[in-house]
Amino acid sequence: MTKLSVNINKIATIRNARGGNIPDVKLAAINCQKFGADGITVHPRPDERHIRYSDVYEIKPVITTEFNIEGNPGERFTGLVLEVKPHQVTLVPDAHDAITSNSGWDTRRHLAFLKEKVAMFREAGIRTSIFIDADAVAAEYAALSGADRVELYTEPYARLYPAGREKAVEPYVRVAEAARDLGLGVNAGHDLSLENLGYFSECIPFLAEVSIGHALISDALYYGLENTIMMYKRLLTA
Ligand code: PXP
Repeated sequence: MTKLSVNINKIATIRNARGGNIPDVKLAAINCQKFGADGITVHPRPDERHIRYSDVYEIKPVITTEFNIEGNPGERFTGLVLEVKPHQVTLVPDAHDAITSNSGWDTRRHLAFLKEKVAMFREAGIRTSIFIDADAVAAEYAALSGADRVELYTEPYARLYPAGREKAVEPYVRVAEAARDLGLGVNAGHDLSLENLGYFSECIPFLAEVSIGHALISDALYYGLENTIMMYKRLLTA
C-alpha cells in the first residue's frame, strides 16, 4: 500500500511568519502520525525559511513512523542527514533561491556526485531516493547511482491534470514502470492534491510513497488536520 508522508514545512512557514513557536512543528509531527500519516517529511533549505536545521533534530525523537529528509546534498545538509539518520533521504537539486523544488536531477550529468552521496548514505543505513522528472534516462542513471528509489516530480502532472488527466499521467506511468523494472522503488511528490492524487495512485498502484505538503496543509484549514489526512489516505487505498 502506498504510504502518505506529510511534509510539514508549511507549518514552519506559518510559525516563522510571527516568531515564537505557534504552530509547533514538533506537535504537528506528533499529530500527523496520530491521525494516520505513514511518515513525516521535512525539507530544510540553506536559508532555513521553512524548517530549520534545529527543527530536524527536535522532530527526530518523536518520529514513530518514517522520517524523510529532503534537500540538496551540499556539505551542511549531508552532515545533518548523517547525524540525524532518518529512514530516507530524498536528494533534490533545488537552487538556494528557488521558491520550491522546480525540477528533477539531470542524473546522467551528476552521476558521479550522486553515486558518492548514495554510497555515503547507504553506509550510514539510510535509504536514498532521487528526485527526477518523468524521464526514462533520468531513471536509468538514478539506478546506476545505486539509489534505492526515485521520487517522481509531479508538478507537470498536476498542472496538466485539469486539461486531460490521461495525457497528464501517461509519461509518469511509463517512467514508473521503467524505474520498477530497474529495481527502484517509486515515490512521488509535488503539487499532489485531493483533486489529482486518486487518479495518480490508481494509474501507478505500486507507488511506495507520496509526500505531500502544500495542498494537504491548506486543506487542513478547512477540514481539520485529522479529517484531511484521512481523506488523502482514502485516495491511496481506493
Ligand atoms: N517532494 C519534494 C522533493 C519537494 O521539494 C516538495 C516540496 O517541498 C514536495 C515533495 C511536496 O510538494 P507539495 O508541498 O507541493 O506537496
